[in-house]
Amino acid sequence: MWDRLWINTHLATMTDAGPYGAIRDAAIASAGGKIAWVGPQAELPGAPEALTSEVIDLAGRWVTPGLIDCHTHLVYGGNRAREFELRLEGASYEEIARAGGGIRNTVKATRAASEEELRAGALPRLKSLLAEGVTTIEIKSGYGLNLETELKQLRVARGLGADLPVTISTTFLGAHALPPEFEGDGDGYIDAVCAMMPEIAKSGLADVVDAFCENIGFSYEQTKRVFQTARDNGLPVKLHADQLSDLDGAKLAADFSALSADHLEYTSDAGAQAMAAAGTVAVLLPGAFYFLRETKQPPMDAFRSAGVPIAIATDCNPGSSPATSLLLMLNMACTLFRMTPEEALLGVTRHGAQALGLQDSRGTLEVGKAADLCIWEIESPAELAYRIGFNPLLTSVKDGRDVELGN
Ligand code: NIG
Ligand code: FE
Repeated sequence: MWDRLWINTHLATMTDAGPYGAIRDAAIASAGGKIAWVGPQAELPGAPEALTSEVIDLAGRWVTPGLIDCHTHLVYGGNRAREFELRLEGASYEEIARAGGGIRNTVKATRAASEEELRAGALPRLKSLLAEGVTTIEIKSGYGLNLETELKQLRVARGLGADLPVTISTTFLGAHALPPEFEGDGDGYIDAVCAMMPEIAKSGLADVVDAFCENIGFSYEQTKRVFQTARDNGLPVKLHADQLSDLDGAKLAADFSALSADHLEYTSDAGAQAMAAAGTVAVLLPGAFYFLRETKQPPMDAFRSAGVPIAIATDCNPGSSPATSLLLMLNMACTLFRMTPEEALLGVTRHGAQALGLQDSRGTLEVGKAADLCIWEIESPAELAYRIGFNPLLTSVKDGRDVELGN
């Protein structure tokens, strides 16, 4: 009847049925790569062996949904360790960007890299995330800033999903920074980004369109043009919003029914309310907050009282968050943003799925969703956010099959 049945387990289903949607002394089954049954083991419709050919006894271990990292820039060339040193000597992230470094440094290295080199660089980062139970990841372009290189990044991103057991959602981030050939001509570059959009849409390589709305990125009006063009080309949007200053990015994202608005340290209460009304997820990125030594907290109370779903992600990128541990982000979300361990875990499961528009197929343990599972050596789900630098994953399961990463 079923392909696989896990018994003697506790489930953090992450539905809204009580804390963590927990079901103790539970069982969960898969069939055809999907979850076929979830519930208290005592309610199984028969003896385990009669229900499936494979019974797995988890001896009291916890199962959560496979983790979702809904904001990364995983595919890029080079690294920015030298800028890390410069910042420690006193230069700010903005100063480095204005002096032509920052994102532009990575653009240079990414343009120069072959697809094979980009892939070889991204693989160990992706494997590090997968080793902690990530089963779905978003990957952005944005280090090409011309059609050819943006498509190259997106192809590499998609290709990683074909080779490893992970679902990949891709994002076109052409409006990430001003490339040197458009120096002094932000509007001209936005024209160029809009002109790339039909090709990007036609290629099928991008699921969503993103932009960086910031003083060192693009203005409200420029971002709006990108969003309108995305809409004209049938692509949904999301936004790097209000990271270093309040340009009303959260409101702009909400006006375009964005899947998510991300960073959000400087978002106003009105911005949070607009997001709630639009169903836009707040994606918080504690790794970037930490690594840039930011002090302005995202408006947590406003998000909570307005009922904005909050997701957490690594923002894995060479400049502001060279992070490849999603579990560490859970801890940071709690310590830096005062999230609860339950909110943090929701942020990398149910709300992470929502940020990618994948809430119907992933993010919770419910019948009909993908059988993406993490099996943990923990005594309570809060331990996932509690530890620092420890990986209690026993196995993850992708579409019903055990994940084996090899070398
Ligand atoms: O999410 N804020 C803009 N983009 C990235 C950083 C990119 C970089 O510095 O390379 C971010 O923080
Ligand atoms: Fe980012």
